[in-house]
Order: sequence, then structure tokens, then C-alpha cells
Amino acid sequence: MRRGILTIATVGLLVTGGVTACGDDSGSDNDAGSDKKPKIGVILPDSKSSGRWENADRKFLEAAFKKAGVDYDIQNAQDDKNQFQTIADQMITGGVTALMIVNLDSGTGKAVLDKAKSQGVATIDYDRLTLGGSAEYYVSFDNEVVGKLQGEGLSKCLTDKGVKKPVVAYLNGSPTDNNATLFKNGYDSVLKPKFDSGEYVKGPEQSVPAWDNAQGATLFEQMLTQTGGKIDGVLAANDGLGNAAISVLKKNKLNGKVPVTGQDADVQGLQNILAGDQCMTVYKAIKQEADAAAELAIGLAKGERKETGQTVKDPEGGRDVPSVLLTPKLIFKENVKDVVADGFVTKEALCTAEYAKLCTEAGIS
Ligand code: BGC
Repeated sequence: MRRGILTIATVGLLVTGGVTACGDDSGSDNDAGSDKKPKIGVILPDSKSSGRWENADRKFLEAAFKKAGVDYDIQNAQDDKNQFQTIADQMITGGVTALMIVNLDSGTGKAVLDKAKSQGVATIDYDRLTLGGSAEYYVSFDNEVVGKLQGEGLSKCLTDKGVKKPVVAYLNGSPTDNNATLFKNGYDSVLKPKFDSGEYVKGPEQSVPAWDNAQGATLFEQMLTQTGGKIDGVLAANDGLGNAAISVLKKNKLNGKVPVTGQDADVQGLQNILAGDQCMTVYKAIKQEADAAAELAIGLAKGERKETGQTVKDPEGGRDVPSVLLTPKLIFKENVKDVVADGFVTKEALCTAEYAKLCTEAGIS
């Protein structure tokens, strides 16, 4: 990941018309879109590791495709790699002119991308980079910054609690998701110096296969047992894993005492923050991600190539992949209201039952 160029407002370029579009002159393998009616295929990864895929990504992608008047087919592989490949095959045979994937791992992702390419279908890595892959574009957030915000958020919450030499446990994301690696690079950049200096103590660490929340809870329970309950902070890589840790802390009457991080600003994560059980989350404006990817996919489907103005180095394939990387935002209790104001989560969904009063206190009207 090339750092330093990542805060460029690439989407600004895209939507303000600072994009250059030109015909695809790269040969015959990706220009099938030019003489066919555009149709975009999207494969989402699952519906359990995070509510975002079905609640946000599908909704915003659909809206963008409808607005542009292009045909589309959005399907979910439900964390099944065979299913992922079957869906891709069906989409390719069904005549998609561009395919957007959120891979379940780089191996199957690469197989799907390469096959699409060989059939003249243009491809986009959506949210997760396929290592060694061949996608024309990668559209995501700056995922190292996401991790950095998690590390900084956790540090602030630990300082607020006044814990000396806190023991920090890690619940990392899926070992097969390149984003999980980037998130960890980000939070390590903040926390490792503190472990090294003795300011913090590194507690147990586990990567959670497929971001499975139930496994996350089991792993965290083992960590708590193994340390005799001595965990002072939890770096959980997303809201689902954060909630898994919180459910175990609740059983041990430790919720609210031990800061836990998250990511995605989903309803449950925001409610946990309002209740004081979760320290922070990271808000990623999925609408921007979906809009940027849809614009590129529509261009590709028409045989055009748009300039994104930045690239990401694929560490495995060595390619500089043309990319859009959006900027994530740190959310504490004080600015949960910003996520509502942005229309990502509605007050009706967030401020139910016991959360109504907490919403009012947090200025959510
Ligand atoms: C995404 C996160 C999501 C996680 C689990 C990651 O690749 O960037 O937003 O929480 O996958 O689905």
C-alpha cells in the first residue's frame, strides 16, 4: 500500500468531471463491453460478517446502477467459495460486461478475475484487493488509516479510563482478507510502539476465520479465561467482532469497563457506543464507495477507461492497480450523530427502546 497519496479526494475527481475517459486500446480481451449492452455483475461475500454488504453496499450499488439506467445482477456468495465461483460463471455466461467482486480469499478471487478476463469481461476489486489478481480497478477505503483510527481510538479510551500498563488483546479480521492485514498494519503502527516502550502490555491475539462473529466470541472467551480476566482493552477489527467481545464481557460484568473498538458504524455498533460498551467505530461512507465503483464499472462496461489518479501496489503480483481510496472517519459517542446526519443509519433504526434516551443525550434528533 502506497501511503501519502491516499488522502487525495479521488472521488471528487470522478464526480466533478475531472476524469478522462478513453477507448480501451489494450487489445481485444477487455473491449467486449463496447459493442454489447452494459450489464454489471456484483458478487458480495456474505451477509453475516457485517451487516454492511446487504444493508448498505447492495442498496447503494443498486441505486447507482438504476440512476445510470444500466442492467445489473447483484448476488451474495454467503461465505461459500464454490458458490462464489458458480455465481461468477453464471454471470459471465449470462453476458455481464463488467464484474465487481468482494473476494472471499485471493485464490478464488484471482481464479474468477482471470476467467472473466479471458472471456472479455472487465473486472473491479470492490473493497478487498485480490492479491496477485488482475482487476482493472480497486475501489475501497484507505484501510491502513481505518486501522490507525482504531488504534488511536482505543488509546484515547484507555487514557480516559486511566488504566496503567493496560493489557490489550487483538481480535483481528479474517486471515484471508487483505483488508484485515491492512487494518492490523494500521493499529500496530499506533500500538506497537506502546508495547515496545512498556506503556501497554500486548495481550492475546487471534485472527477470526471469515470474520465469524460466533467464533470471535469463543476465541475472546478463551482469551479472557487464559489471562484470568486481565484484559483492559480489546482491539476488535469490526463492529461484529466488537459485539462478540462485548457479549463475553457482559457475561463477566466487565462491559463498559473494558474499551472495545469496531468498524462499519452498523446499528449494533453505534448502540454499543451509545450504551458505553464500545469505545469507537470507524464510519466508512459506503455510498461514496458504491458510487465510485459503479461509475468505473459502467465506464468499463462501455469499453472506457477512466483515470482514478492513484494506484495501490499489489504486493503479490507487483502490479500498480488503478485505485480509488476513500477517507474513513473516527466515531466516538460525541459524533454518532454525524453517521445519522449522513443518512447511513436512520434514527428509527438506532434509537429503539432503551436507546431512545441515549440518542437524545447524544444529540440525535
Ligand atoms: C470490510 C469491512 C467488513 C469486513 C467483514 C472487510 O473487508 O472492509 O468493512 O466489516 O470485511 O465483512
